[in-house]
Amino acid sequence: MAIVKKFIPIDEVKAGMKTAEVVFNNNGNVLIWEDVVLDELTIERLKSIGVREMAIHIEQPQEISRRAYVDSPERFKLEYTLDLNKTKKMFQTIISGGNLEIEETDTIVESVFQKVDSNRNIIDSINQVRSIDEYTYYHSLNVSMLCMIIGKWLRLDSVHIKNLVKAGLLHDIGKAKVPLEILNKPGKLTESEFAEMKKHSEYGYLLVKNNGSISTEIARAILTHHEKEDGSGYPLGLTGDKLNLYSKIITVADIFDAMTANRVYKRKDTPFKVFELMQHGSFGVLDPIVLNTFLNNVTTYYIGSQVRLNTGEIGIVVFINSSNMSKPVVKVGERYIDTSISNIVRIEEFI
Ligand SMILES: [Fe+2]
Ligand SMILES: [Fe+2]
Repeated sequence: MAIVKKFIPIDEVKAGMKTAEVVFNNNGNVLIWEDVVLDELTIERLKSIGVREMAIHIEQPQEISRRAYVDSPERFKLEYTLDLNKTKKMFQTIISGGNLEIEETDTIVESVFQKVDSNRNIIDSINQVRSIDEYTYYHSLNVSMLCMIIGKWLRLDSVHIKNLVKAGLLHDIGKAKVPLEILNKPGKLTESEFAEMKKHSEYGYLLVKNNGSISTEIARAILTHHEKEDGSGYPLGLTGDKLNLYSKIITVADIFDAMTANRVYKRKDTPFKVFELMQHGSFGVLDPIVLNTFLNNVTTYYIGSQVRLNTGEIGIVVFINSSNMSKPVVKVGERYIDTSISNIVRIEEFI
C-alpha cells in the first residue's frame, strides 16, 4: 500500500489521520510528534494554538480506521486497566511474602512500551481520581509511562526507553515491604512512620538487586529515586554527579505524578501550580536538563484545556509562557486574560 506525505490545511485534518512531521510552536517546543494518530481533541487544540496546516501520511481508509482504534482513548483505557491490575498483582505477591515475578513485570513493561506514541492519553490518565489504597499501583504505572515520554523527549534510544519503563514501574516496589497501615494512612505520618516509609528505596533495591533480568543501572535508580541534585535527598544524600539518568528522570516523573494526583484526603494541585513548584525548585534541586525538557514539552498538552477562574468564569488556556508556566493566558469569550500580569484573576481549577 502506498503511503504519501501531504501538507493539508488544519480544517481538512480528520481524526484517524497520522502526522508525517513534528509540529513545533514559536518557542521551538514540540506540539505534536510525527507518526501520531490524531484524535478530535488534539486537532481542536492544534487549531486553537494557531496551527494552519500539517504534514499528514495519507493511507487507505481501512488502514486509517484500524490505526485510529489502536491509538484510541477507549483502547488505551482498556489496556491501562489491565496493566493496573497486573501492577496490583505484582505488588500483592510481594506483600504476601513472594518474590518479584519478572515475567509478569515484563508483560507490563511491554504493554507500556507499545504506547510510546500515546502521549495525549498518558497525560490524560494522570488526572484520574485514585483511592488511597490503590494509589501506589496507579502511581507506579503512571511514573512508568511518564519516564517513557521523558526518555523520548530526551531522544534516548529504545533500549534506554524500555529500561526507563521498567525502572519507573518498579521505582516504588519497596513500598510492598512497608506496613500497610503506614502506606495507606490517610493523615500525616509521625516522624517514625515517615522514617519507615523512607526505607522503601532500600527495600526496593534489595528486592531487585540480585535479579538477573534487572540491570545494575535500574537497581541503582530504584535505590536513588529520592536523592536530589544538591545532596538533600535520601537514603544516601548523594549529589547529582553520583546519580544516573534513569534516577533523575524518575525523580521528575515521580514528583509530577504525586503532585497532580487527586487523593481522597488531599485536593490535587492544578498542573500549572505543579509546573510552578517544579520550575522554582521547591522540591530541592532537580536535574535542569531533564526538568526543562519535561516542562517545555508537557505544558503544550494543556493548551486548549478548559479552566474555571476565581472570578467564576470559564475559559480556555491559549498560551503558556515558558518563563512563567503557572500563569497562562486564558481566553474567556472574546477576551484574553494574561493571568501572569493580573493581580486579581487566577486559575481555580481544571474542568
Ligand atoms: Fe518513592
Ligand atoms: Fe514514587
